[in-house]
Amino acid sequence: MVGLLWHRALLESKEPYTAPIQCSRPQTQEPLEALSNPDEHTTTSMAALPEQSTPLLELEQVSFSYPGSARQLLSNLDFSFSPRQRIGIIGPTGLGKTTFLHLLVGLVQPRQGSIRFRGEALSRSRLRELRSSLGFVFQNPEDQLFSPTVLEDVAFGPLNLGDKAAEARRKASEALDLVGLAGYEDRITHKLSGGEKKLLSLATILAMRPEAMLLDEPSIGLDPDTRSHILEVITERLDLGLIIVSHDWDFLYQATEELYTLERGRLAAKNRDVLHEHLHSHPSGDVPHEHVDGPGHGVEAGESES
Ligand SMILES: Nc1ncnc2c1ncn2[C@@H]1O[C@H](COP(=O)(O)OP(=O)(O)O)[C@@H](O)[C@H]1O
Ligand SMILES: [Mg+2]
Repeated sequence: MVGLLWHRALLESKEPYTAPIQCSRPQTQEPLEALSNPDEHTTTSMAALPEQSTPLLELEQVSFSYPGSARQLLSNLDFSFSPRQRIGIIGPTGLGKTTFLHLLVGLVQPRQGSIRFRGEALSRSRLRELRSSLGFVFQNPEDQLFSPTVLEDVAFGPLNLGDKAAEARRKASEALDLVGLAGYEDRITHKLSGGEKKLLSLATILAMRPEAMLLDEPSIGLDPDTRSHILEVITERLDLGLIIVSHDWDFLYQATEELYTLERGRLAAKNRDVLHEHLHSHPSGDVPHEHVDGPGHGVEAGESES
């Protein structure tokens, strides 16, 4: 239920943009059951993007604080994003990273400043187009997934954008292939593992063939294998722009090409090669710790250490 509300929130923002935006369960001409008649399975990768010169999104002097809060999270922030860019935003909890992403997809609105989408002021009537171009993967899959089965969840987006059932199914299968969930079509969504739900969230967005994707903490709470798998999907299988917010430096370093932090309400570029320390753990124990000096310091991966 929460997922449904969130999904609706994405498609039908309650924020006061000027014109209403339509949203409902998919208004397909064909019954949803048609989804269960599989077309030929496809393994085609996502189509390459055309080169574009106008930025997809531009923020100019944007400021934001939540109603009733004295804290200005974003302050005179300028930002430009083109579909080819792969941007990472890093920083500890509470900085406003999620809020920034919500602003980009119109879930919250600037107190001051302007947002342009494809060079024109963003209005409520363009939110639907914005959100089909710029897919948003929530931090928590429960906020993204709401259908009984995997196929229904992944096909929802294409159906809602006007595809017929067979085409929606084709796109859903392709997206599931891309994230490594081929064959999961009839699985019950709420019975999937946390990692599978995360991958499924990604697939629900990819099925809509976005030009770019926003990911909120894609690596959080994942087991190492799923984290590596998601990283591989993002770096090797997707040809689209990305904005990823995360506290996970290593993930961002590998998945993105430009790195920023939010500082005093603005984005500040960071040197990707800055020296930083890592916590690590041993096979015989799983408590992350830091070796500053002494035994084990500088031991290469794979060497034994105690
Ligand atoms: N809907 C909301 N209403 C009021 N305050 C909020 C709301 N959502 C987030 N906040 C506050 O805004 C700050 C930034 O939150 P968030 O954008 O989630 O940061 P981050 O993603 O960097 O952890 C936090 O202090 C959080 O409590
Ligand atoms: Mg967050």
